[in-house]
Amino acid sequence: MSADLASRNYNYTVVRQFSVMTVVWGFVGMLVGVLIAAQLAWPALNFDLPWTTYSRLRPLHTNAVIFAFGGCALFATSYFVVQRTCQVPLFAPKLAAFTFWGWQAVIVAAAITLPLGITSSKEYAELEWPIDILIALVWVSYAIVFFGTIAKRRTPHIYVANWFYGAFILTVAVLHIVNSAALPVTLTKSYSAYAGVQDAMVQWWYGHNAVGFFLTAGFLGMMYYFIPKQVDRPIYSYRLSIVHFWALIFTYMWAGPHHLHYTALPDWAQSIGMIFSLILLAPSWGGMINGIMTLSGAWHKLREDPILKFLIVSLSFYGMSTFEGPMMSIKTVNALSHYTDWTVGHVHAGALGWVGFISMGSIYYLMPRLFGGTQMYSRRAIEVHFWVATIGVVLYIASMWIAGVMQGLMWRATNPDGTLTYAFVESVKASYPYWMVRVLGGVLYLVGMVIMLWNCMMTIRAGKAIDAVIPQTTPAHA
Ligand code: HEM
Ligand code: HEM
Repeated sequence: MSADLASRNYNYTVVRQFSVMTVVWGFVGMLVGVLIAAQLAWPALNFDLPWTTYSRLRPLHTNAVIFAFGGCALFATSYFVVQRTCQVPLFAPKLAAFTFWGWQAVIVAAAITLPLGITSSKEYAELEWPIDILIALVWVSYAIVFFGTIAKRRTPHIYVANWFYGAFILTVAVLHIVNSAALPVTLTKSYSAYAGVQDAMVQWWYGHNAVGFFLTAGFLGMMYYFIPKQVDRPIYSYRLSIVHFWALIFTYMWAGPHHLHYTALPDWAQSIGMIFSLILLAPSWGGMINGIMTLSGAWHKLREDPILKFLIVSLSFYGMSTFEGPMMSIKTVNALSHYTDWTVGHVHAGALGWVGFISMGSIYYLMPRLFGGTQMYSRRAIEVHFWVATIGVVLYIASMWIAGVMQGLMWRATNPDGTLTYAFVESVKASYPYWMVRVLGGVLYLVGMVIMLWNCMMTIRAGKAIDAVIPQTTPAHA
């Protein structure tokens, strides 16, 4: 294709690649999730092999779902949205291609090293230093492609979805580089540049902002583009979206210490974490309301359109987990919830309900458009996926809430003479039925993902890879 013709079309190649891999890695990551959930219920599934023990597969699961599934969804949608809303093709297409292959290399390296037990042991930042360097290179390239595209835009303003994607890209670069600073001793082993409580604080400044920016801000970018598109209405309040943006990014930065309540971290720092977490409820719900109210006057569409169901129900789970999170950050509540399955329930309300659903809805919107059509191969399959996955999430989070509160209460129960009422192992025994219900919930969620994989494959087979033409008229926004 001539350079002239290429510049008249959007660059969908890299969007297509990331979209397909979102579905593939989603399936893989959730499969590992189901396996580790089953290992907790039936320990024999550890197979007495070091590579398949729970402790090695758990980080494999978290890395696969967050960085492979979530990461590919973020790359795919941000590259699509930034081109459509700026009405120009991607800046530096070769660098964009590098971000795809580089990111896949990171994922494969993670899939090899984590089961081998090669880990920095920092949660959500387990990968060893050579992989960390590759991540930094990919991420800086991503920033150049994204901001370069914004710089050469033909539209007068920068649509709010790009603000969220931009904040996510910038912040994750800073978080990753600062938290991964380490002294390498061999190719596969390094020691953190920080020590003691400073190390813990840097780690949870990173960890919580990974939630705030990787698992939230980028997905809010999706929300601001794909919900108005699917409803065919402008966002409810543009003004609210700007307030939402600044309030959210300012507040998230300070909330990290709520992961370190009752530790060696100074008490005042813990209190700051708690206060900012409570404040965080307001911008989070502001965003949720802005998304849901976009449906005003078009509520009937929710009944008929399964893609919209994914997008809107994701916001309900977002609202739920961003109400629960501030509550759990209150020190006295955290004294009960910390170390229990309540945390795991909270995580998956956000992960399965919010991150999973908004990504699935967005990919269902994208997939046919990237392959020359307007509809997915089977609308009914999307509907089935939605219901199977929703039942799966509810089983997962409800069982973890009950198990978590039960564990917390059992651990603190004392007899009149001051001795503990229950031995720890009794709380483990009492948790088994709930862990089995979680396996069932996880299997349902995974079945939904298999349906999606099939539906996407059929859509791709029936279609043809086509890059849409960029409108040459003076743009408003696309
Ligand atoms: C089929 C779906 C899934 C199943 C069955 C599943 C299962 C599990 C299990 C059993 C754990 C370990 C819990 C523990 O340590 O007690 C876990 C941890 C975790 N999973 Fe999932 N998961 C699924 C999907 C996801 C998705 C889609 C995401 C993110 C987008 C996710 C993010 C996480 C995170 C962040 C943790 C660590 C939680 C913590 O440290 O508190 N999971 N998952
Ligand atoms: C207003 C928003 C939120 C606040 C204030 C908040 C607060 C909290 C608190 C207090 C904990 C427990 C810390 C502990 O006891 O160790 C926690 C854990 C966690 N939350 Fe949230 N949360 C919020 C939203 C979310 C969302 C939307 C997600 C996912 C998409 C999420 C993912 C996580 C993860 C992965 C953990 C577990 C971290 C770990 O220990 O490995 N949170 N959150």
